[in-house]
Amino acid sequence: MSTQIVNIQPLSQPVNLGVEPAKFSPQVEAEIDRHLAKYPVMRSAILPLMFIVQRERGYLDPPGVLYLANRLKLRVTDIWEVATFYSMIHTQPVGKYHIQVCKTLSCKIMGAGKVTEHCSQKLGIKVGETTADGRFTLSEVECLGSCGTAPMFQIGFDYHENLTPEKIDQILDKLP
Ligand code: FES
Repeated sequence: MSTQIVNIQPLSQPVNLGVEPAKFSPQVEAEIDRHLAKYPVMRSAILPLMFIVQRERGYLDPPGVLYLANRLKLRVTDIWEVATFYSMIHTQPVGKYHIQVCKTLSCKIMGAGKVTEHCSQKLGIKVGETTADGRFTLSEVECLGSCGTAPMFQIGFDYHENLTPEKIDQILDKLP
């Protein structure tokens, strides 16, 4: 007979980040309120709110994490475990254009390694680095759900598929 787990108590793990929580404009607070109103359980709004904090601050920095913990009545570690799971949430500053190359099976078979290598050579940075002018960050991520058009990468919210070195050059060269 299996035991049903009815009440999972999180570990008691207070975290002192040593920072003040982020502050946002009344417009942003109102936007956050609108998201919170959609969900019967506040923590369900964690991802939409993370996107807002990231948009406003460039990445999910410690004051942003503390703000979310306070606003959602969660622990800092609850925020952190979600933030570090999703590659679209940045816990470090990223460039204006964040190139996320899919490195999972279909893309790997179809040449993801060459895509990363081409971007790396063209931009003069390794995976995980940002160009000195702050324009480009290069990352490798797991499957982005576009396996039928491999190899591919994502820049911001845009997908670029069936990549070749020529196509990569065109995409990067025309970015403003
Ligand atoms: S394996 Fe690259 S998008 Fe799925």
